[in-house]
Amino acid sequence: MTVVRTRVGIVGAGPAGLLLSHLLAAAGIESVVLDSRTREQIETTVRAGILESWLIELLRQTGASDRVDRDAQPHQGIELRFDGAGHRIDFRRLVGRDVWLYPQHEVLRDLIAARVAAGQDLRFGVVATGAQDDGERVTVHATGLDGEPLTVEAEFVVGADGSRSVVREAVAGSQQAGYFREYPFAWFGILCEAPPSAEELIYSNSPHGFALISQRSAAVQRMYLQCDPELDPQAMSDEAIWASLRERVAPHPLIEGPIVQRDVLRFRSFVASHLRRGRLALVGDAAHTVPPTGAKGLNLAAADVVILARALEALLLRGDGSEVDRYPEVALRRIWKAQQFSWWMTSMLHTVPGASEFDRLRQLGELYSVVESEAGMRFLAEAYTGWPLG
Ligand code: DHB
Repeated sequence: MTVVRTRVGIVGAGPAGLLLSHLLAAAGIESVVLDSRTREQIETTVRAGILESWLIELLRQTGASDRVDRDAQPHQGIELRFDGAGHRIDFRRLVGRDVWLYPQHEVLRDLIAARVAAGQDLRFGVVATGAQDDGERVTVHATGLDGEPLTVEAEFVVGADGSRSVVREAVAGSQQAGYFREYPFAWFGILCEAPPSAEELIYSNSPHGFALISQRSAAVQRMYLQCDPELDPQAMSDEAIWASLRERVAPHPLIEGPIVQRDVLRFRSFVASHLRRGRLALVGDAAHTVPPTGAKGLNLAAADVVILARALEALLLRGDGSEVDRYPEVALRRIWKAQQFSWWMTSMLHTVPGASEFDRLRQLGELYSVVESEAGMRFLAEAYTGWPLG
């Protein structure tokens, strides 16, 4: 059995775990990061694409990415489409902030490259099986690539291991302990090879269901359509996908091209019952899941990490544990605001199976009350572009 000793053990090399190791290293605190996946799997999984501006600034300022300067594209607003017409929400004018289109796997490539260049102990293909704070030592138990047991002993352990977190059990008491909400629909996501169909994102509510037109680059686009959670992504023909997208954003024209990837994203809201126990804490999807409408998941994970990194600096460099004590309270304020926003965007924009005509017309009333009100549009813009981190 191998025992590795470090200051902070981090389970999960997704955006949360990698950003945490990066911020801790900048403060002179060493960590070990474990992930069950390979580096290639992590770097090629297609995920969300919208980053709040403070996060772009953080990646730039801490030297995590120089590619954001070249490749991230500022978006000054979004379009809400409903009742056959588009309505622009102008973030720049309403709140003076942009959001940035920079795909999550690019953030991961940047962070992994920066951590590897800095000599970070980053172990891929290592499956964590549990974590424990026995009052004396905090440990992570894992199985290495060769099947050998591996134990990480640390002063603090962080679960950044996603929605199926194994660290959650040690923090919250069980895998399921928390607050849940399921939704009766999912998103069918595609990547296609075509020029952009719109300069900004289009969130469209239509009688045929929701659609989102997003972008990736001059040559590749990302689009989503509301679907049944049980839909087999291979069961729909390319033509059926395009027909469905077209009718949901009509009369806005779409530029079609070969569909090169498809996936189904399930919708769920979750907040773990506890975010910290002793010298164990949860960040990112291990702590919470939001439905994707409104693009809060990655940004929320990064916000947890910034709050926890500051708290760990106080604890490990100055022996001051008060910020770690306050971590759940500070993080949860933002988490529940993001839960509310993601739930609101989701329920305002999607077609609920079996909804009455009253519900459908009330939904249009809600959408008009946002786009015909400065206060309504500003509320949406403040949340979408991200609340200040403080
Ligand atoms: C994307 C995903 C989202 O969930 C969203 O709200 C906006 C954009 C994307 O993948 O581009």
